[in-house]
Amino acid sequence: MTAAPMSANTDWLSRSRAAVWHPCTQMKLHATLPLVPIAHAEGAWLTDFDGNRYLDGISSWWVNLFGHANPRIAAAIGAQLAEVDHVMLAGFTHRPAVELAERLAALAPRGLGHAFFASDGASAVEIALKMSVHCWRNRGHPQKCRILHLEGSYHGETAGALAVTDIALFRGAYAPLLTAQTRIDSPVPRDGESREAASQRAADSLARHLATHHASLAALIVEPLVQGASGMRMYDAGYLRRARELCSRYDVHLVADEIMTGFGRTGSMFACGEAAIAPDLICLSKGITGGVLPLSVVLASDAIYAAFYADSVAQAFLHSHSYTGNALACRAALTVLDLFEEGNVIVANRATAGRWEALAQALAAHPRVRDWRRCGMIVAFDVDTPRADFAQWFFGEALARGILLRPIGNTVYFMPPYIVTDDEFAMLAQGTAEILDRL
Ligand SMILES: Cc1ncc(COP(=O)(O)O)c(C=O)c1O
Repeated sequence: MTAAPMSANTDWLSRSRAAVWHPCTQMKLHATLPLVPIAHAEGAWLTDFDGNRYLDGISSWWVNLFGHANPRIAAAIGAQLAEVDHVMLAGFTHRPAVELAERLAALAPRGLGHAFFASDGASAVEIALKMSVHCWRNRGHPQKCRILHLEGSYHGETAGALAVTDIALFRGAYAPLLTAQTRIDSPVPRDGESREAASQRAADSLARHLATHHASLAALIVEPLVQGASGMRMYDAGYLRRARELCSRYDVHLVADEIMTGFGRTGSMFACGEAAIAPDLICLSKGITGGVLPLSVVLASDAIYAAFYADSVAQAFLHSHSYTGNALACRAALTVLDLFEEGNVIVANRATAGRWEALAQALAAHPRVRDWRRCGMIVAFDVDTPRADFAQWFFGEALARGILLRPIGNTVYFMPPYIVTDDEFAMLAQGTAEILDRL
């Protein structure tokens, strides 16, 4: 008797379990929970080795904008490969880095004309925090070295970024590595509070804090409009305007972490644009390459750049990563900007978001749904559920229906690539409603 052939999925699964340490994962849970080997990714769809298909409702951790295997981005990377693949950016430069720096400066809020490249979101956050503290030191104010961050913040997993992240599960074990920073009120509404009242409350609290402590503060870091990883918590643009005024008044940098919100997720190219504010430093990553290659960038103001421009090497920003300004990633990013321009994507997305809202009406009215909210291309809601394992359970149920959704606690959200069709979006909403019916 011959044994039944193992499915291709099973083979990759067991090899991955043995050899790959997966991110943000208790590996032991993969003894029972799904781990999906992906053989093919195209458009908004992922296909496993057994031919099952999954609609990517969260853009593969919020990175994908124009679909997997986008032919334009792929061709541009191929052509770039034949020209320059990667060269160090210290002592050298190349077309894609220069062109991308110029185009991002033209698109970003006014006055952010100096691009410092890195590879991941967290490294961009490290760079922004180091730039801020070092800038004050160079100007003769070394005591201005603490960072303010918001309650419910998330800025990444490296030690500096984690020090300004307010998610206990992620930071608890690393407390000895983390410098003490200061957490202040978030403008996200608390139970029953209006967005305006929450914004006012948090801005008043920021004003009080700055009035007392500004002499020791380098910067305030915020995720503009949406605190993503703590549950797609949305807030009023008025807070950002007050924060900008207050930071200017008290000589504290405003750092906008637009790693998740940038490149159209909140409805404008950058969320700061919606509040009509210009931060001193802006961190960009994720969608920058359309989700194809790792790249991040910090755009700095003229004033911050000027504080480093000196005869002394010690006054320079001596930070680097080997892959800084990778030419292939920069070329992918330039192609993403072309796609935005050619498709007038920000304007087209406004109509798309309206259609999504209409397609999700039945889901929004589901008796299990609480606090339905949308900011641009991000739709989120909380679920009234008796299940302690809701997020894991929902993830498995969604996969069984051919959709990839990964709740944060009891919060379900849709953040698909911009190219999903109305039918595909309806599938996300309908599949979700079916799962909620089973609660
Ligand atoms: C707002 C924000 N900042 C920083 C990061 C970290 O980015 P990365 O995972 O690329 O290090 C994330 C990732 O989700 C994020 O949402």
